[in-house]
This record gives sequence, structure tokens and C-alpha cells, in this order.
Amino acid sequence: MSSAAASVTACRHLVRLRQTGESYDCTESETLLQGMVRLGRKGIPVGCVNGGCGVCKISVCVGSVRKVGAMSRAHVSAEEEARGVCLACRVSPLQCVEVEVVGKLKKALGFQWGAGASFRSGPADETNQSQGDMK
Ligand code: FES
Repeated sequence: MSSAAASVTACRHLVRLRQTGESYDCTESETLLQGMVRLGRKGIPVGCVNGGCGVCKISVCVGSVRKVGAMSRAHVSAEEEARGVCLACRVSPLQCVEVEVVGKLKKALGFQWGAGASFRSGPADETNQSQGDMK
């Protein structure tokens, strides 16, 4: 209701997907996944949008996010969370962030961001992110 609160919710930050180099704007009042879907973008797999399926699992490589909902330990362990791993449907950006998809669907990254966007290959190195513990 206050103007201060309104200005906070209007803050936008750039979200960059490391695998493709593509980016989109996301406000502090929406989750990283909501911001992507709002713009009709793809890149982070979308599932339940409620923290239950784990397909939107990402690692925050640069920047910081705020947790806006519970993350199931079946999908993100306390150790992973301490390393910046989270569910894109349960966090909002606090600043510009760079993320990497690490969930079980990361290889299904079918990139269709923006009409006519040029797709470029991300870093070929996808080591050390395979958790293999999705249950
Ligand atoms: S979309 Fe299901 S946990 Fe995020």
C-alpha cells in the first residue's frame, strides 16, 4: 500500500541463463519462473509451479535471490541450497542474476526465446552439476 512498497515490487532485474546466454527481466514481486513465463520465454523447465516437482531446479551462479516459498528437500537438499541451488518457481531476484538449469530436464532445453533470436551455444562444459539424486 505504501509508495515504498510499491516501488519495491516494481524493481526489475535481469535474469541470464548461463547455458544459452539469453536473458529476460524479472521483478522482485514475481518468481524467476513467473517472469520467464510472463514473457513467453522458455529455457527453465516449467512443471507444477509450486515447488513440488523439481523440474525448475537451478543453480544461482551470480547474484542473489529471495526465497518466497518452501522448497522440498526431496528436490533441493540443505547442502545444495547453501551452494545456491534452488527452485526457480520459489525464488525472486534481489539483483541481476545468472542461473544455470541443473534439474533433470536440463538437457531438454529447447530454446525459443524471442522471435528471430539468434541461438548460440553456451559453454560446452556441463560438468559438476549433475546431481542424479532426483527422487
Ligand atoms: S515447477 Fe515444479 S518445482 Fe518448480
